[in-house]
Amino acid sequence: MKILIIGDGGREHTIADTLSKNEKVETVYFLTHNGGAHGKMQNANYPDNSRNSLDAFLEKNSVDLIIVGPEQPLSEGIVDYIKQKGIKVFGPDQKAAELEASKSFAKYFMQEYDIPTAKFLKFNSYETALSGLKEFSYPLVIKADGLCAGKGVIICQDQAEAEKALDDMFHQKVFGDQAEKVIIEEFLTGFEASLLCFVSGSKVYPFDTAMDYKKIYENDLGPNTGGVGMISPNPYWNKDLQAQSDAILTKIEKGLADRNLEYDGILFIGYLVQKGKVYVLEFNVRFGDPETEALLPRLNSDLLENIMQAIDGEKVDLKFADNVAMATILVSKGYPLAYEKGKKITGLDQVDSDIKIYHNGTKNIDGEILSNGGRVLSIVAVKDTLEEARTTVYKNIPKISFENMSYRQDIGLLKDIDS
Ligand SMILES: Nc1ncnc2c1ncn2[C@@H]1O[C@H](COP(=O)(O)OP(=O)(O)O)[C@@H](O)[C@H]1O
Ligand SMILES: [Mg+2]
Repeated sequence: MKILIIGDGGREHTIADTLSKNEKVETVYFLTHNGGAHGKMQNANYPDNSRNSLDAFLEKNSVDLIIVGPEQPLSEGIVDYIKQKGIKVFGPDQKAAELEASKSFAKYFMQEYDIPTAKFLKFNSYETALSGLKEFSYPLVIKADGLCAGKGVIICQDQAEAEKALDDMFHQKVFGDQAEKVIIEEFLTGFEASLLCFVSGSKVYPFDTAMDYKKIYENDLGPNTGGVGMISPNPYWNKDLQAQSDAILTKIEKGLADRNLEYDGILFIGYLVQKGKVYVLEFNVRFGDPETEALLPRLNSDLLENIMQAIDGEKVDLKFADNVAMATILVSKGYPLAYEKGKKITGLDQVDSDIKIYHNGTKNIDGEILSNGGRVLSIVAVKDTLEEARTTVYKNIPKISFENMSYRQDIGLLKDIDS
């Protein structure tokens, strides 16, 4: 079997590496380039993940399955495009991708199916949004409706910050046309949990939970990133929260069926737990990054079989090991703002055999691995306990180096939470 992966980050490398373990899999292509490709993984080296590149690839190669990693091509309908070609594809069509691509679409879906979420209002203009602020108390949250690569959510402490956020979105157009609509939301406090699920038609099958580290600096300081650390399972998750989550999944299944939003792919639910109650912050319709880097190494069932079960509309038989995974992400100087690239990476072959390395942003130039992204490498260990996973990850990171490499030292150090 030959598989093509659209997308080239750590999520895609983890998916490709996991699929490679299945003996039926002959080749896993990256449409573009992932510096970690080896063995059954091959880089097709097209310049981007566009339809032109896809068409050019398919003229020369035939594949049995295409997996789409990132949200952008999904929101542009790449799955519909691939289906027209008669090729099997794992991912939502454009209609279902609205659950991620429009925050208001997702919020109305949650409202309609009685899924707990922060109170919100949607606005189409600066003036109406400005007067809408008085319906909320501070802090409040302002979100661009569309896809903003994780930068479209602003938490505002006072009226001045809220006015600036609205001005940035509607007048300065810092998110282009992604902020032609905005939602204003009540601010919730507590801890967050990521729950990925397989979607097979309208049926939803959850993975184990995970916990993301979003801030660039230790102690959750500094700006948000795409995620610089991950542990799975989420250490704060418990049976009661699981029961609330299961009830939410049942409501989501009803909504997907009622609204003809069935698909074969992944639904990623961003939860926030406030005082013991589970709220949905948002939906994504794809594997999370870096959630995938900590979840797939714990998967005991076969990923390819699970994907085919979803595509064939069957029950997705997911099995997780009873262990703990931790990922720390090595980042480039400057990230999450403008960052350095092209730094030579050494020591990748020096790490212990119980370490997995997934490439988030690298290039392989004639066997030399160079940094090529803000997030560069995910260093992952899977152990019986979080403490062992943590010790293993941090013992190995110093063996790897590139100029101005940095990373958080506190991934997996648990603190008491008030929730
Ligand atoms: N209502 C809210 N209350 C508190 N924090 C929030 C709220 N909505 C979003 N956030 C914070 O902002 C982050 C990003 O918001 P999210 O809705 O997940 O958008 P995106 O991932 O598209 O940027 C969340 O992970 C959470 O930390
Ligand atoms: Mg999010």
